[in-house]
Amino acid sequence: MQTPSDIAVIPRDIHFRTESARGTAWLGGDPVATAVFNALSLTFPDGERLFIDSVRAFRSRLQGKLAEDARAFIAQEAIHSREHASLNAHLDRSHYPVERIEGSVRRRLAFLRGLGPMRMLGVTIALEHFTAMLADMFDSDPQLWDGTPEEILRLWRWHAMEETEHKAVAFDVFNDVTKNWTPRRRDRFRARVMVLVSVHFTLDVIRFAAALLEADGAGRWRARWQVTRFLFGEPGIFRKLGPRYRAWYRPGFHPWDYDNRAKLREWRQQFG
Ligand SMILES: [Fe+2]
Ligand SMILES: [Fe+2]
Repeated sequence: MQTPSDIAVIPRDIHFRTESARGTAWLGGDPVATAVFNALSLTFPDGERLFIDSVRAFRSRLQGKLAEDARAFIAQEAIHSREHASLNAHLDRSHYPVERIEGSVRRRLAFLRGLGPMRMLGVTIALEHFTAMLADMFDSDPQLWDGTPEEILRLWRWHAMEETEHKAVAFDVFNDVTKNWTPRRRDRFRARVMVLVSVHFTLDVIRFAAALLEADGAGRWRARWQVTRFLFGEPGIFRKLGPRYRAWYRPGFHPWDYDNRAKLREWRQQFG
């Protein structure tokens, strides 16, 4: 499977008014869900800059539609980074350990940048698989988002749509710049990177979300337990990724093996 030829990556320069995130539990009044999505949002601005730089490092080698898609990918991630930074700016920094979390994200990313462009691209395609899976699941549980201010919901929906649109761009760049590798070498590289990324990404999300919950008054272990249950128990947003997560380890995997163009069309009716 390859990226279908009718997939167009379109940057949409939208400014969202997300002041209502200033309250404590903007996500449907649920403090645990809010903490998890705030934790994700706190990793995005710097994380997406890493994705941009990973693709940019190989841009001069790309041609044709992939070169155009890479340019659009960079533009989309830059706008996502800006909009999540603006959402994050509404978090009460005197109440939540936002600076501590941002510092931790920065240190993790500085380490990854030190690994060089090919490993950075590997980390990018692995994390893009996570964002694509989460995006696909985003509105499959409308109950979870019940009572969320419309503009914040719109921000997450727009992000989910564009993550779906560009889910294979970095991956196609990776395939293109490693075309002289054997398929087996590519698969093993991808698998190794994914194991490490999964462990660190999951532990980071738990750690960051639990730190936010602790600020709301939960005890340390209770906060960690609540976040872990949210991710792997009920509603289990990470648990539900299981089959699609495992697909990554299949030899010759491609993000469009899972074809969710129908969902993309639905979202596009709202955003163009
Ligand atoms: Fe993004
Ligand atoms: Fe992305």
